[in-house]
Amino acid sequence: MSAHKNNGHKICVSLPSNVNMLGLIDKVVEGLSEYLNLDAEAHNALAISVIEAGTNAIQHGNQYDESKLVDLAFEIYPRSLKITVKDKGRGFNLNQVESELKDADPLRFRGRGILIMRELMDEVDFDFTKTGTTVTLAKSVPARGGDGDSS
Ligand SMILES: Nc1ncnc2c1ncn2[C@@H]1O[C@H](COP(=O)(O)OP(=O)(O)O)[C@@H](O)[C@H]1O
Ligand SMILES: [Mg+2]
Repeated sequence: MSAHKNNGHKICVSLPSNVNMLGLIDKVVEGLSEYLNLDAEAHNALAISVIEAGTNAIQHGNQYDESKLVDLAFEIYPRSLKITVKDKGRGFNLNQVESELKDADPLRFRGRGILIMRELMDEVDFDFTKTGTTVTLAKSVPARGGDGDSS
């Protein structure tokens, strides 16, 4: 994808499908935000979105089967971040889920994860294959390496 061209660093983490692992995902995102010097707003957006995607992968994708891994990759580009979260599940009908959401009670407890990710990230894509579901999250971040012309 041209917006994410340019060779950046890639950090990969694979976790067993146990909700106790969500804290670890949080720590990885925290470390990444520090490394990238993200402000609190960008950090929170990232943390919430990756936790939502990770929760879905553990819960819906791998159905808490700890022998199935969730693979996270954080790709760092000069002006953007791309995160993929992959599970081993059979996927779901995205159109159906999203159209049901439109008519749902806004105070309903469930079914906010995808909505929240779409709100906080620039891009949220789903890829369904025979080997699993991959959620791709992308967000532009301020250029690093100096104070730049942020005025
Ligand atoms: N990785 C996934 N694998 C399978 N189904 C998923 C996945 N992510 C989301 N879903 C489906 O989409 C629905 C909506 O997800 P979400 O908005 O996060 O709400 P919630 O997780 O609270 O149900 C889920 O209930 C599930 O049916
Ligand atoms: Mg969810």
